Amino acid sequence: MFRFPKLYKFKRLSLIVLLVAAFATTVVNAKVKGVGHYGYGKVATAEEIAGWDIDIRPDGRGLPPGSGSVEDGEILYEDQCASCHGSFGEGVGKYPVLAGGEGTLTEERPEKTVGSFWAHTSTLFDYIRRAMPFPQPASLSDEETYAITAYVLYLNDLVEDDFVLSQDTWDEVAKLPNNSNFVPDPRPDTQAVRCMKDCKKEVKIVSEPTITAEEVAAADDTIVKAAAGNENEKGASVYNGACAVCHNSGVAGAPKLDDKATWKARLALGEATLIKHAIEGFQGDAGMMPPKGGRMDLSDEDVAAAVKFMLAEAE
Ligand code: HEC
Ligand code: HEC
Repeated sequence: MFRFPKLYKFKRLSLIVLLVAAFATTVVNAKVKGVGHYGYGKVATAEEIAGWDIDIRPDGRGLPPGSGSVEDGEILYEDQCASCHGSFGEGVGKYPVLAGGEGTLTEERPEKTVGSFWAHTSTLFDYIRRAMPFPQPASLSDEETYAITAYVLYLNDLVEDDFVLSQDTWDEVAKLPNNSNFVPDPRPDTQAVRCMKDCKKEVKIVSEPTITAEEVAAADDTIVKAAAGNENEKGASVYNGACAVCHNSGVAGAPKLDDKATWKARLALGEATLIKHAIEGFQGDAGMMPPKGGRMDLSDEDVAAAVKFMLAEAE
């Protein structure tokens, strides 16, 4: 026979149902009204969003209407920028140099300027608009920003003195000379996998051996020239670029390239195993061989070539 629950239980139950329902409606209402997940705050107006949304993409998307000429830019620049950045962009005192420096990037002391180093004109426009002049950031009008940007391009010999910068002429200057030297970082993301079962009971934190600047310099100085008969050029170049830093001098316990006895003993494992260890990394008694020597941009073939080079050198 069906029995009703005792009255007081029924009441308590309905109270809970009511509370849950009330809470749910608040949340739903909050969502409907758009006042945020937790029911407070307010929706930003289109105007407020526009105030923040001022970034400009390299291709010019986001540029405001308007234009500015090199000619007008010169007057504005002299007035508002030259006291710090110099009339020719040469930089006064400690203030940044804005022009020149072409061809210095490979020198010991590269001069990184808009013309020699920067990739996109959008960065210049955006930076000036947000941050300059240093004492009064964001004080320039869009027209003024166009004009001064055009003038800084002119100081870098990138446009003629009659150039006018606007959405229409943007494409002509969107990419700065050093643009093609910016490349996507080829290294993969490394994502640690969280252990969910059978995990280590105790985690011991050990510090990895570090390589000193002197050791790097020493390794830099000693590019290994392949021995006669070792024609593995690819292996040699991978070795010198990625492995020599440890294996030349025996840093961090790495078996030295010219330590023939060690390599002979290791070769007993078979070449394939050594290659596998070099690709996947290997913790031995001597130390820690990081996967691919820490150069995850190398292909397995590159690493294999380097190992073959090393073994041939050690013969
Ligand atoms: C009072 C000195 C001062 C004035 C005036 C000034 N700047 Fe600057 N500018 C600086 C300083 C300081 C920095 C570096 C800021 C930083 O790195 O945080 C800088 C950085 C820059 C940079 C980036 C340089 C780089 O290579 O990183 C540009 C471009 C620039 N300023 C343009 C301008 C323009 C255009 C004006 C005039 C509208 C202007 N500045 C006025 C002091 C000044
Ligand atoms: C950060 C230092 C470091 C770099 C860079 C490095 N290695 Fe090693 N490597 C080691 C150490 C340390 C060992 C010794 C591990 C052990 O046996 O304890 C080792 C061992 C090896 C071994 C022997 C593995 C075995 O099973 O005996 C090979 C092969 C090797 N490395 C190849 C390479 C190649 C190829 C590169 C470049 C792509 C490279 N290493 C870059 C530190 C390095």
